[in-house]
Amino acid sequence: MNSCFIISLCLSSSSFFIDILSIEAAPDYLFHDCPNTTLFTPNSTYRSNLHALLSSLSSAAAGSTDGFANAIAGQNPLERAYGLFLCRGDLNSTECSRCVAAGEQDILHRCPNQRVSTIWYDQCMLRYSNRSILSAMERSLDRVLYDVGNVTDPTRFREEGCSSGGKLH
Ligand SMILES: *[C@@H]1O[C@H](CO)[C@@H](O)[C@H](O)[C@H]1NC(C)=O
Ligand SMILES: *[C@@H]1O[C@H](CO)[C@@H](O)[C@H](O)[C@H]1NC(C)=O
Ligand SMILES: *[C@@H]1O[C@H](CO)[C@@H](O)[C@H](O)[C@H]1NC(C)=O
Ligand SMILES: *[C@@H]1O[C@H](CO)[C@@H](O)[C@H](O)[C@H]1NC(C)=O
Ligand SMILES: *[C@@H]1O[C@H](CO)[C@@H](O)[C@H](O)[C@H]1NC(C)=O
Repeated sequence: MNSCFIISLCLSSSSFFIDILSIEAAPDYLFHDCPNTTLFTPNSTYRSNLHALLSSLSSAAAGSTDGFANAIAGQNPLERAYGLFLCRGDLNSTECSRCVAAGEQDILHRCPNQRVSTIWYDQCMLRYSNRSILSAMERSLDRVLYDVGNVTDPTRFREEGCSSGGKLH
């Protein structure tokens, strides 16, 4: 009886500890996109450019006060990597750079050897490509995320949402 109690206490306190660590470390993943048609060979120049790109993005995230940066890596235009990140506006640079750093590991794992990839978290978005993507409209990618919570005042929500051209509160 007594030893069972001790064992369960140990398990629950260690899982509590793990929960705290994972909240600290991992951003909340939403989805990713990598088209699979843009594979590079593992030892290519693109690969080293991509790694240089990601490392300059994570440095930028660590020092960023506005939660956004873009970067380019590579001399040869055919092997050049372009990338950017954008963090949620209410996050400070510690939280932003944590999301970007975790995203960099995650995207390489989810989209191995891809020239073009995007990953979204609740906290940030990270994206790279073999063509310039800064200020370039992208229509091929869209997802709808539903907020399943209830609004407190449905009448006002409908009025403000529809009549003022999408101004939602
Ligand atoms: C991309 O290719 C990998 C490896 O061939 C495969 O496992 C994966 O299912 C593909 N993904 C898509 C979206 O086609
Ligand atoms: C990007 O990579 C794809 C797949 O290898 C290639 O077809 C495309 O031409 C490349 N785009 C640029 C701008 O280099
Ligand atoms: C690829 O890189 C690995 C590790 O750096 C190396 O051992 C291998 O020889 C390289 N292959 C080619 C084809 O360059
Ligand atoms: C950043 O925000 C987190 C969560 O709100 C907070 O715990 C942390 O102290 C903040 N860091 C700085 C440097 O303000
Ligand atoms: C929203 O309201 C409905 C109807 O009152 C209720 O059944 C549902 O549980 C509520 N959902 C949430 C997320 O509060």
